[in-house]
Amino acid sequence: MNEILKKESLSPAVKLMVLNCPFIAEKAQAGQFFILRANELAERIPLTIADYDREQGTITAIFQEMGASTKILGQMEVGDSILDVVGPLGVPSEIEKFDAPVIVVGGGVGIAPIYPVARALKEAGNEVIAVIGARNRELIFWEDKLRAVTDELVICTDDGSYGQKGFVTNAVVDLHTKHGKIACLWAIGPMPMMRAMTNVTRPLGIKTIVSMNPLMMDGTGMCGACRVQVGNETKFACVDGPEFDGHLVDFDLALKRLSIYKNEEKRAIAHMEH
Ligand code: FES
Repeated sequence: MNEILKKESLSPAVKLMVLNCPFIAEKAQAGQFFILRANELAERIPLTIADYDREQGTITAIFQEMGASTKILGQMEVGDSILDVVGPLGVPSEIEKFDAPVIVVGGGVGIAPIYPVARALKEAGNEVIAVIGARNRELIFWEDKLRAVTDELVICTDDGSYGQKGFVTNAVVDLHTKHGKIACLWAIGPMPMMRAMTNVTRPLGIKTIVSMNPLMMDGTGMCGACRVQVGNETKFACVDGPEFDGHLVDFDLALKRLSIYKNEEKRAIAHMEH
């Protein structure tokens, strides 16, 4: 159980792991996440389910080695077992058949979780356009996988080393001009990117779903660590989300909360390295 069956580097900072988790694979749906703890020394890490295979009983985790716990995870190898994996958690994406094209946008490591959303939208009969973006070519991955489940794929890099030069927000404006109407858009990636996307789609009248990635502890709605302000309500990303109407999310507050433990994280990494 929880054994690492495959490990791959998708880019210098992003790793993929396929885990043997049949109970999670059986129930997983697009938009949901799971929480894992690599070993006794590691913190819990919430990760969106990047892919699942019910027959093989596997789920795919994609993560960026940023903090101490993701570094511990990144050092584990095929054959090792993760201490515990809990999921699937959260509310699945609301997939329906729309009357106009839909766009899924993935930024950086957020390219991974848009894949199951794109696949589910395609299976529901939608015209699906994917827009993926990263700083440079090295950080783009899953191009072929996304091409297989979408009608159009736009790649953007900040430095122009691959695809079109510029941000995913510019690509979305161009697609809106080209298609006339976009029924719905999913944006998953770093919070500043999701905030920028909602600022672009608001005046265009495109309904925008974002997947919030705040700090999480228990993942069951008990601790309140994952609080997000959505409109006039306080929501818990782990049980009410992680997907919310992006035009209602208070991103300034969410970004402030995300940086609360920055110093502790730095100390934990320094501790690991000595
Ligand atoms: Fe504890 Fe959501 S992680 S309430």
